[in-house]
Amino acid sequence: MCGIIGVVGSAGALETVLEGLRRLEYRGYDSAGVAFQDHGDLWSRRAAEGTRSVEALVETCGDAPATLTVGIGHTRWATHGNPTEINAHPHLDCGKRLGLIHNGIIENHAELKAALEALGHGFRSGTDTEVMVHLLEDELRTDGDLVAATRRMLGHLRGAFAVAVVSADHPDQLVAARRVSPLIVGMSDGVSYLGSDIPALMGKVDRVFAIEEDHVVDLRPGSIVVTNAEGQVVSPQSVEITWTSEVAEKGGYADFMTKEIHEQPEAIAATLASRIDATGSIQLDDMDFDEEDLRQIDKVVIVGCGSSYHAGLVGKFAIERWAGLPTEVDIASEFRYRDAKFGPSTLVIGVSQSGETIDTLEAIKQARKGGSTVIAISNIVGASMTREADGAMYTRAGLEVSVASTKTVLAQVIALELLALRLAELRGTRSAEEIEQIVRELHSLPAFVAGLVGATKRVEEVAAGISSARDYFFLGRHLGYPVALEGALKLKEISYLRAEGYPAGELKHGPIALIEPGVVVVAVVLSGPMAEKMYSNIAEVKARGATVVVVAEASDQVVESVADYVLRIPDVADFAAPVLAMVPLQQLAYAIAKSRGIDVDRPRNLAKTVTVE
Ligand code: AGP
Repeated sequence: MCGIIGVVGSAGALETVLEGLRRLEYRGYDSAGVAFQDHGDLWSRRAAEGTRSVEALVETCGDAPATLTVGIGHTRWATHGNPTEINAHPHLDCGKRLGLIHNGIIENHAELKAALEALGHGFRSGTDTEVMVHLLEDELRTDGDLVAATRRMLGHLRGAFAVAVVSADHPDQLVAARRVSPLIVGMSDGVSYLGSDIPALMGKVDRVFAIEEDHVVDLRPGSIVVTNAEGQVVSPQSVEITWTSEVAEKGGYADFMTKEIHEQPEAIAATLASRIDATGSIQLDDMDFDEEDLRQIDKVVIVGCGSSYHAGLVGKFAIERWAGLPTEVDIASEFRYRDAKFGPSTLVIGVSQSGETIDTLEAIKQARKGGSTVIAISNIVGASMTREADGAMYTRAGLEVSVASTKTVLAQVIALELLALRLAELRGTRSAEEIEQIVRELHSLPAFVAGLVGATKRVEEVAAGISSARDYFFLGRHLGYPVALEGALKLKEISYLRAEGYPAGELKHGPIALIEPGVVVVAVVLSGPMAEKMYSNIAEVKARGATVVVVAEASDQVVESVADYVLRIPDVADFAAPVLAMVPLQQLAYAIAKSRGIDVDRPRNLAKTVTVE
């Protein structure tokens, strides 16, 4: 969470920083701010106007000097301290000679603040971040070297951070560092850049370097020097940026969520493309381990958060069915803190759109330390998780800007199913013909999804019929259950309505007490043995007065007689159905959110990438 950007050596540095902040809004929009070197002083502006903070910041920068070439910018997702201007970054030291921005949490900020106050430092904000700028102010007194002082400052900190500093006394220089939270740097035409993630630097550089933990970066015009904790110069890994800056534009759609829903057929097709080689074998991406390791696996654990966890639940069915491997799926923030047993025979799969979510990142680090083979499924090439894992598999969905995940979730399901097929292939649990048949089935999905995203009229009618309700239950069984969870999450995050996803069989164990007239039940009924059981559960909620919406396949003959509203999806094999069933639920959440006048791309309190616990 929080987006950071810095530029050294460009005549249009302020424009570059503001443009970067617009693209980083999805990381947080509680406030925004900039600080630049200005002829031996600092020039700084901040704004805190909720979702229009960056816009407000741009307005306040109208009087900026034309000569700014070195500066930093920040969009905030508040952790410590209210989302006010006083808590907006950059934070300044007592002498107003240093400006500092931060993504992460400083866990020992309270004790550091007390110690700094005792030394006479005055604090202006209620943030954890501000301790860093005062620590740096003190450390600079030793030798005035900004890089060395930053390295010493890191020694005081506990927690997660990507931090960048501009100093009025160190012309043509920015210094940055990280621990846990991501930080990238890049250079082009003599201008050096830093950012929290690729969108910050898109269109400016075509290659970025990922900074390792506790390394410090010295950025100057035409030069970037990275040093490790001991002060030795190191060479960071580089990643090519293949996305153009147009992918960060709405491209004629009303908002990013609509654009990204429409990009789903392409996201699935790209994730499936060239996965079968000339010998008929499934191809994953960068797998830095012996295939023999995968053959030895006797258990799989999938970890993720939010929608990525839901994709993992679908993946579990595929791995258990095709590869015959017992598979657990865990919410990463829970998995980290239980006494999970690792070892070489357990394969741990971290699923994450961003590849940066702190809980998933730390969970896979833990698993790797315990000796397990780890694969990261990510949408971002070179993201932290892909660097921490033994192997990476990419979802190739393209940049996703809207806070609500759409195209990346569908692509994650596809990636997990491909991985399940690879495991089946290696273990000999499915024949080449069976695998080919399954892959053929998956290849039919882009066309079906295109049909669904192009047809919104029925979904809008259903939304109009149910949007006055306050309480929603999403029910499903088997492969329909993760779909129900995902439908509920989409609705709550963008419409602010109470929506619970539940396994339909669990309803009678408590939640049915909440069913009464006025409550909406959205049921996901996929064909197969679970359909009849779902219809029994639907009868139970109807009998108690609920309004029922059913997502059903085209051939379902029963649904019209039991549902108040029906949303149809095409008939496909059961493992492919979750991908289709998620689409009308995304559209339903979108239509309800729009009817409530909510900015779907920037729902309150949320950030796209969660880099704090
Ligand atoms: C879903 O719409 C969410 N925005 C959220 O649950 C998301 O899936 C979660 O934060 C995980 O993010 P990741 O995939 O980048 O790890």
